[in-house]
Amino acid sequence: MDIYFIFEKWGKEHMTQDELKKNVAKAALEYIPENAIIGVGTGSTVNYFIDFLATIKYKIQGAVASSKATEARLKSLGIPIFDLNTVSEVEITIDSADAYNPYCQLVKGGGGALTREKILAAASHTFLCIVDESKETKIFGTFPIPIEVIPMARSFVAREIVKLEGNPVYRPNFITDNGNIILDVHHWVIAEPIKLERTLNNIPGVVCNGLFADKPADTLLISTQQGLKIIKNKLSG
Ligand code: A5P
Repeated sequence: MDIYFIFEKWGKEHMTQDELKKNVAKAALEYIPENAIIGVGTGSTVNYFIDFLATIKYKIQGAVASSKATEARLKSLGIPIFDLNTVSEVEITIDSADAYNPYCQLVKGGGGALTREKILAAASHTFLCIVDESKETKIFGTFPIPIEVIPMARSFVAREIVKLEGNPVYRPNFITDNGNIILDVHHWVIAEPIKLERTLNNIPGVVCNGLFADKPADTLLISTQQGLKIIKNKLSG
């Protein structure tokens, strides 16, 4: 794993989390290839990215959105939308995360868009994740792990998670873009994220889980008070 630190000052000291999000979102523009179709994630950091993307929209063909909310924002800024099924290659996906570790593994889905985000990341040549330093986590579990579940399987899946020593909490008044529910699992201390991600995927009724460990991000851009930090996952080539 290559780690670069670029102590290029942001031009201001003691930034708020929002300012850190905005700066890393702007830094991601450097990674957008000309004439590409790009994948776009979901959340407040990505919303900043979409706003910056609009300033170079003539450079790209368009975007595949990871949620209805992202699609609406892209459309409102005049960025053409593509359906993943009609696209032969997504060159790069830009998304954020709720937690990251030094191996570019992530927890995602705080906004509930985890399934489409995971599909898009998997379908993309490169997965670029943009975060601020507050999301650094050595051992996952502090941020609850979201699990998207087919509604009829809710109780069954919850019981299976209890067997795995997690505490599943039904996310109230929330239906995903795919018509499913979310269980947020609290109080897990996740020593082996890849193993748990695979175990969860094997429970009937689970559509997707918020651990992005089996296929981590290729590059992490981290916005810190000192400047931009870049972690490149060598394994992803
Ligand atoms: C959406 O489902 C999530 O995976 C988001 O990418 C993640 O929650 C990060 O969101 P913020 O940028 O709002 O912190």
